Amino acid sequence: MSDDIYPVPETWAKTARIDAATYAKDYARSLSDPTGYWLEQAQRLDWMTAPTLADESDFTEEKFAVRWFADGVLNVSANCLDRHLEARGDQVAIIWEPDAPTASPRHITYRELHAEVCKFANALKAKGVRKGDRVTLYLPMIPEAAVAMLACTRIGAVHSIVFGGFSPDALAGRITDCDSRIVITADEGCRGGKSVALKTNVDAAAKLSSSVETIIVIKATGADVPMTEGRDFWYGDLIAEADADCAPEPMNAEDPLFILYTSGSTGKPKGVLHSTGGYLLWASLTHELVFDYRDGDVYWCAADVGWVTGHTYIVYGPLANGATTLMYEGVPNWPSPSRIWQVVDRHKVNQLYTAPTALRALMKEGDSYVTATDRSSLRLLGTVGEPINPEAWRWYHQVVGEGRCPIVDTWWQTETGGQMITPLPGATALKPGSATFPFFGVEPKLVDAEGKVLEGAAEGNLVITRSWPGQMRTVWGDHDRFFQTYFSTYPGTYFTGDGCRRDADGYYWITGRVDDVINVSGHRMGTAEVESALVLHKTVAEAAVVGFPHDIKGQGIYAYVTLNSGETPSDELRKSLVAWVRQEIGPIATPDAIQFTPGLPKTRSGKIMRRILRKIAEGDISSLGDTSTLADPSVVDDLVANRVGKP
Ligand code: WTA
Repeated sequence: MSDDIYPVPETWAKTARIDAATYAKDYARSLSDPTGYWLEQAQRLDWMTAPTLADESDFTEEKFAVRWFADGVLNVSANCLDRHLEARGDQVAIIWEPDAPTASPRHITYRELHAEVCKFANALKAKGVRKGDRVTLYLPMIPEAAVAMLACTRIGAVHSIVFGGFSPDALAGRITDCDSRIVITADEGCRGGKSVALKTNVDAAAKLSSSVETIIVIKATGADVPMTEGRDFWYGDLIAEADADCAPEPMNAEDPLFILYTSGSTGKPKGVLHSTGGYLLWASLTHELVFDYRDGDVYWCAADVGWVTGHTYIVYGPLANGATTLMYEGVPNWPSPSRIWQVVDRHKVNQLYTAPTALRALMKEGDSYVTATDRSSLRLLGTVGEPINPEAWRWYHQVVGEGRCPIVDTWWQTETGGQMITPLPGATALKPGSATFPFFGVEPKLVDAEGKVLEGAAEGNLVITRSWPGQMRTVWGDHDRFFQTYFSTYPGTYFTGDGCRRDADGYYWITGRVDDVINVSGHRMGTAEVESALVLHKTVAEAAVVGFPHDIKGQGIYAYVTLNSGETPSDELRKSLVAWVRQEIGPIATPDAIQFTPGLPKTRSGKIMRRILRKIAEGDISSLGDTSTLADPSVVDDLVANRVGKP
């Protein structure tokens, strides 16, 4: 942790929308007069019926509800498209940068995007999609992904995007969970020069999930893919015959907008459900204030639409604000570690938003890949997804931003819909590694293990004590799980699952997950999910998975595996298990280390003592703590002796 302070540059203090005094005043008002504050903010959206109600949420078990603007009516696609047509119909809405640097970018204006969305919305209707139906999207980073999302919102269908790196099994699970009858995909994806067999994966998933009736396929690479008569349709054919006139469906502010599956500490991934009004307001307001987005800026969030960051900060926030948003098909370091900066130069990007893991990987390659590029268009830099180590922060600030650009280190979650603890560039003096202060309306607190609120400088578990408009509304199909997961640990508050320190100046420093979620390269992975995949393998009797510190990924996946009797540990088997997990979940779940062990450390009641497993994986064997409560303390010696990667 670091204690240097980077004051707000003078030009920013003068020109930014929110300076330090405004932040203090508006933040206080957002808590003391939430109804007044939020009904005022809600006016930035285009409502068919303006809301007169704001927050009606209650975090207690008896009256549990998360509800905002419940008498308001609006449509998301109308807010992201129609209302911009008059003033900025010919402005570019989406700049698309393809994977291959030699291929041509695409520029899509608001008018063009509007027409395409209306046509595709009509095509979906013609395929029987109705308000409230779930539509699964399994797509590469191409503009049609945004078209498909917006087309769903236009007719009130609920999209569920599954990241293209998930396996057919994982995809099938998500299709089945929300019972979607239609899947939108592409022939292939293309990332870092490698193709991803999306349509083939959807075909495999459709065999596992009986609900799929229709598959719409976008021609992205032109690869030859099998099409099943009567079930599979080309996107291009449907668009060609569709009408460009499609009235936006009036939606209640609380109607569901999208489902996004994310990992938790237990069980299978949950379908996080966001609703229409509060989410869009949160996306739009945070996008404008945190990035200080101005008319004419070119803004780039280098995430994937398969994750929440892509939903909120590639598509909904920027388009609601009439911004020009850059969408990049590829990866930051292909074909060279200069690529990300070359894209910045090519499109004169003003705000760049990326993940610490990408920065660490690029930093490792040396400064010359950065300094060989111009980057003078950059005005602001952002990070998200995991704690940023001060060394990477300073490199981003000094080498990438040449000391000129404020860095917004934004803490938030799939569940929160948008940024929650974050600097505002004209208001906040920065400390490298700290997400600094809460956004308007966000009331964070730190509690100890018993739930006692900690005041002043302290370290504890991070909770949020009142609702905010962008908060998730439920876990799809399991409202009780929603309550139990987030509101039962520290009654009356939303528990984030993160640990956090607050320093003497009131700055928040997120220290990482305190539950059984691992953050691998900024992506959430539940240890339970990887364990379930491992035990499905015919040789495996039992598995326990923990995270350990990893230079580039932030955290890596460390698996302890006990084999069935008669099976012999070998490097070959280790490789098969890694391949197996990739097949069951997807490459993002690839274990970094597998340690075979004759037994796991369990208490006499059979509970695995993960604390010990974490310590051993971290290589911190000097402080294993009390092991006397273990049923068989001798397992620990074996675990320590056979640690993978031990010096
Ligand atoms: C972590 C991504 C530290 C945190 C938007 C959180 C962060 C989880 C930060 C959510 C940050 C996200 N500093 N940690 N700036 N941003 N996290 O749902 O542990 O994929 O709980 O949402 O990422 O991950 P998710």
